[in-house]
Amino acid sequence: MSLENPQRYTVTAALIYANGPIHIGHLAGCYLPADIYVRYLRATGKDVAFISGTDEHGVPITIRAQKEGITPQEVVDKYYVQIKRSFEDFGISFDLYSRTSKPIHHETSREFFLNLYNSGNFTEEITEQYYDESAKQFLADRYIVGVCPVCGNPNAYGDQCENCGSTLSPTELKEPLRSMLSGSKPVLKATKNWYLPLDRMQPRIEEYVNGHPEWKTNVMGQCQSWLKEGLRPRAMTRDLDWGIKVPLPDTDGKVLYVWFDAPIGYISMTKEWAEQQGRDWELYWRNKDTKLVHFIGKDNIVFHCIIFPAMLMHEGSYILADNVPANEFMNLEGDKISTSRNWAVWLHEYLDELPGKQDVLRYVLAANGPETKDSEFTWKDFQTRNNSELVGIFGNFVNRAVVLTQKFCEGKVPTRGELTETDQAVLDELAQFPDRIGQAIEQYRFREALSYLMDLARLGNKYLAETEPWKVAKTDLTRVHTILNIALQISASLSIVCEPFLPFTAERLRKLLNTDQVSAKDATGSAFHWINAGKPDLLPHGHALGEAVLLFEKLEDDVINQQINKLHESKRMNELAVKTVPEAKPAIQYDDFAKMDIRIGTILEAERVPKSDKLLKLKVDDGTGTRQILSGIAKHFEPEKLIGVQVTFLANLAPRKMMGLESQGMILMAEDRDGSLSLIGPDKAVWNGGTVS
Ligand code: 2FM
Ligand code: ZN
Repeated sequence: MSLENPQRYTVTAALIYANGPIHIGHLAGCYLPADIYVRYLRATGKDVAFISGTDEHGVPITIRAQKEGITPQEVVDKYYVQIKRSFEDFGISFDLYSRTSKPIHHETSREFFLNLYNSGNFTEEITEQYYDESAKQFLADRYIVGVCPVCGNPNAYGDQCENCGSTLSPTELKEPLRSMLSGSKPVLKATKNWYLPLDRMQPRIEEYVNGHPEWKTNVMGQCQSWLKEGLRPRAMTRDLDWGIKVPLPDTDGKVLYVWFDAPIGYISMTKEWAEQQGRDWELYWRNKDTKLVHFIGKDNIVFHCIIFPAMLMHEGSYILADNVPANEFMNLEGDKISTSRNWAVWLHEYLDELPGKQDVLRYVLAANGPETKDSEFTWKDFQTRNNSELVGIFGNFVNRAVVLTQKFCEGKVPTRGELTETDQAVLDELAQFPDRIGQAIEQYRFREALSYLMDLARLGNKYLAETEPWKVAKTDLTRVHTILNIALQISASLSIVCEPFLPFTAERLRKLLNTDQVSAKDATGSAFHWINAGKPDLLPHGHALGEAVLLFEKLEDDVINQQINKLHESKRMNELAVKTVPEAKPAIQYDDFAKMDIRIGTILEAERVPKSDKLLKLKVDDGTGTRQILSGIAKHFEPEKLIGVQVTFLANLAPRKMMGLESQGMILMAEDRDGSLSLIGPDKAVWNGGTVS
């Protein structure tokens, strides 16, 4: 059951791992919807704690450290700053953005663990885990490499095969196994850990989940499939050296499971914020009238809907989430966003290249939010939405209302005269919008809410098109005043209801309308609050508008093409960078090498082999005559460019037939990282038939 009309909210957004910069998928999947929701709550006068931060423990951090050749501490210090900055730049209005490395978080997590331990809520289990004897360390699943049982990839990780995407457990990996720490073969060794007996909690979790039929279907679907499988005990401690030390004796080398401490981060960060604000944190976590909402991506559902609630239920003194409106994933230009393949739009780069365009991205991401299924970002759609919707509808309407007011009313809000039926109908419709938008936001339907916002701008455009004040001005200025008054009232409402989605635009629009100069007593009711949006007299007559500013500007093709090219280029570079030097072949003796008769020759003729896109037919002067060699290099060289070039060839390769033609030898080539080929020749002209040794 959802809380009726709560006045206090704790809203959390996933504590992202501090192991890399953030991209549009993160924003669209979690942080933007959370921010829209919170901005709306604040606008409607609710008491909100909007809490987030970085998750600085766990294997993702140590893996990154290993990759970058720095310490885990250096990794989290670096990315915390970068991630926090990106959120600030895009107007994600956290009340606190903290980190799980703070002492208050370590204390809160240890205390939570001890509470569960002391009240007998954990079971102790001894299991066999892989251990690296030379590194003297147990190995997290990710640190064990072996052969994938599904596709045979020899470099599959103990948790996943990156070649075929299968989820694995280390015991499923086939031999030979090796440790990523030392390269040695891991051995199984017994170790004790503390488990949360989720199996025993199943009925209570079921009651909790089933008590929320209003949850999104994607969230409910994942919960039900876990419940159907049957919950199993889960280890809440791990044998690792990076994380929060287990607060029990004789537990050296053991830390709290990162998924145990991370969600407790929501609590510890609320404490930290409340301390700074001189508030009582318990009101936000222990008061049943507070509504707790977790915004997350789909990969975090089970942790927030089952495991964290189970921890909270065991502890007993906390409220549980009222909703967990998880989003699905956003794809980019038809492909999954991937950090390792550099297939992403990074937030820090976006702002360098499109400065001041935070709201354009917020708009496009919210309009395409992956609310119920995976969605898609393309730069062309970004351009169209900017040009036809933000510029063509929103910007165009506000701009016309303001410019016409400057032209016909000296830049001051004119008086409204007698209303026609059209005027009244528009004002009546205007009055409906704030609730319509608000209700969609309250139900986590942000795309729908945004479409209503644009409908309001459309209403304004339609009204101006129908009433044509620029024509009426020739005959009836009083009527023009009425029309422009109404257009300005719509603009004023827009400045309020667009704020959750487009906070930077809202600010510009408020400046444009000079709303700071409208005192509470001038406007009907109080000033520019959501509660007054939709009212017909937000701007009093005689009020002077501010300086004209353009809300949005058109994006030209070259800007968009640059982004598309950049994306493809960086992916290509990345693929090159990850290509590794091929593994060495087994050693041979000199005699093996000496068997090869490698010589120099000059290409006399070169032509494509009909019906083959690979083969070139070459005639090579080998010093004794001309021999025919077929070479699979047609995709790399224009035949005519090869004529006269000295090459190295294997002269005693047994003749072979290809496409009905005999090949008497093999031209030697070097392959570059990108797969392109180079001929191997002498660095000065030598006689044909000269041997290579
Ligand atoms: O997926 C992640 O990036 C996790 N670090 C999210 C944790 S959310 C919460 F539990 F803190
Ligand atoms: Zn595989």
